[in-house]
Amino acid sequence: MHTLEDVDKNKLPKHVAVIMDGNGRWAKQRGKLRVFGHQNGVEAVRKTVENCAKLQIGFLTLYAFSTENWNRPKIEVETLMKLLVASLRKELDTLNKNNIQLNAIGNINSLPPKAQKELAEVISKTSKNTGMTLTLALSYGSREEIKTAVREISLKVKNNIISPENIDEAVINTHLYTHFLPDVDLLIRTSGEHRISNFLLWQIAYAELYFIDVFWPDFSEHHLVEAILNYQNRERRFGKTSEQLN
Ligand code: IPE
Ligand code: IPE
Ligand code: MG
Repeated sequence: MHTLEDVDKNKLPKHVAVIMDGNGRWAKQRGKLRVFGHQNGVEAVRKTVENCAKLQIGFLTLYAFSTENWNRPKIEVETLMKLLVASLRKELDTLNKNNIQLNAIGNINSLPPKAQKELAEVISKTSKNTGMTLTLALSYGSREEIKTAVREISLKVKNNIISPENIDEAVINTHLYTHFLPDVDLLIRTSGEHRISNFLLWQIAYAELYFIDVFWPDFSEHHLVEAILNYQNRERRFGKTSEQLN
C-alpha cells in the first residue's frame, strides 16, 4: 500500500476537488440509518483535509451539499446542516494548526442562519492562514452558479459597465463563485458512480477524472495517494500532440 511519501512533490495537482459520495450506502451495508453514514463521513473529511495539507496541495474543494440535495427528506437535510455546524466548530483549531484557510462556494444565503454564522466565523478566523485553501461547496450547483454569473454580467452590460465584446473567459471566471480558485487539476469521486452531478462544470474543463469504488467513509490515506499517483502517471495534453509535449 502506498503512503504520502510515495507522492512526487514536483508533480502535485494544484487543485484537487472531491465528490464525497456513498455515505448512505455505507450505512445501509451496516444495517444503519443514512445519518450514521454522514457522521462517519466527517472523519474521512478530516483525514483527507489533513493529508492534502501534509502533501502541500494548494487547493482542496469538497462537494458537501448540492442544490439538488435540498430535495432529500427533511430530517436528513437537518442532520447534515447540524453536522456541518458541529464540524466547523470542532475543526477550527485544527485548521489553524495546519495553516489552512477555509472558504465556501454555493448559494450560502440559503443555508440555515446558524450554519451561515458558523461558516462566516471560521472563514474569518482562518483568513490569515497561508497554507492550503480548503473550499466547501455548500448548496452548490454548477448551473445555478453559471446562471448567477450570466445575470451579473448582463446587469453590467445593461449599465454600460462592460461591453459585450469584452466578455471573455477571464470575465466569466471572475463572476463565478470560484473566482479565487485555479482550474481543477484532479477530480475524485467515490462510491462507484461515474457522473459529475452538477459540480464545477466550467472549472473541470481539463481536469483529470478519477473514479473509485469505495464509499466516502472508507476513503483513507492510501486511496488519496492512489488517486494522486494515478494522476501523476497521466499525460495532460491540453489539445496538443504527445510529440509536442516531449
Ligand atoms: C454523499 O453521500 C453525501 C451527500 C450527498 C450529502 P450520499 O448521502 O449521497 O450517499 P449515497 O450516495 O446515497 O450512498
Ligand atoms: C453529489 O452526490 C453531491 C454531493 C456529494 C454533495 P449525490 O449523491 O447527491 O449525487 P447523485 O444524486 O447520486 O447524482
Ligand atoms: Mg450519493
